[in-house]
Amino acid sequence: MATDTTPTPAPARSPQRVRWWRRPWIAPLAIVTALFLATSLPRYVGLDPAQSLVPTDRGPAFYPALVTHIFTGSIMLSAAVLQLWPWLRAHHPRVHRWSGRVYVASAIPTAIAALIVAQFPSAGVAQQVANTMMGILLLTFTLLGYRAVRQRRFADHREWMIRSTALAFSIVTNRFSSTFLVAVYVPGALTDPSIQFGAPEIEGAAIASAWVSFVVNLLFAEWWIHRKPKKRARVQRGR
Ligand code: HEM
Repeated sequence: MATDTTPTPAPARSPQRVRWWRRPWIAPLAIVTALFLATSLPRYVGLDPAQSLVPTDRGPAFYPALVTHIFTGSIMLSAAVLQLWPWLRAHHPRVHRWSGRVYVASAIPTAIAALIVAQFPSAGVAQQVANTMMGILLLTFTLLGYRAVRQRRFADHREWMIRSTALAFSIVTNRFSSTFLVAVYVPGALTDPSIQFGAPEIEGAAIASAWVSFVVNLLFAEWWIHRKPKKRARVQRGR
């Protein structure tokens, strides 16, 4: 008699078991993202280069690429927050799938436009290399994550998308790291009005911040992916 070797499926997890307060990061992440977009986006909506936070006299390709980058980047960050929201993933998988498609469709132009603006750095080659690497990695991780889900390799999909999202949020980390680096290494900038955007000290901090923000985010992503399974299972069981 043939033996049935079909593995017994694991018991389905109840999506309701994990309460929102077990995921204390999603509300702060949504608030920080909303604040970032509310403070960064408006100056570009009128398509007036004079309103830009960064100098735009860097050739005819720069400003169109910058605004494309910022508009698609805003869609990408909003979709990323929805993707990371466990309640939405568990209760509305169709919305999760659609916001995932929006994420991928906006991440690709964001990364390509970032690769263009990165070639006109305000702070030299070290900044150019950091942003170019970030753009290439964002594109690569997103495409690998998309390919994995098309091939139904869900574990690989999750890992690549966590890495992609970590890079997407490096712009938000950058706001904190640049403020921190200026405060610690160029404290004079806080009191001396002559030390402004373009001053060598500020450019040094901008370069350091470009590297710090994405390296720290990627390290965090690797930690998140490789957290001890025991800990993860406990969270999933809602304990
Ligand atoms: C890995 C991803 C990213 C890369 C490589 C990247 C790269 C860049 C570069 C090179 C610039 C021009 C900076 C300069 O030379 O002055 C820039 C500016 C900007 N990017 Fe991104 N970026 C990324 C993600 C994002 C995302 C997701 C957003 C969300 C909206 C975003 C929003 C902005 C904004 C608002 C600016 C204008 C300058 C500022 O306000 O800081 N970026 N980005």
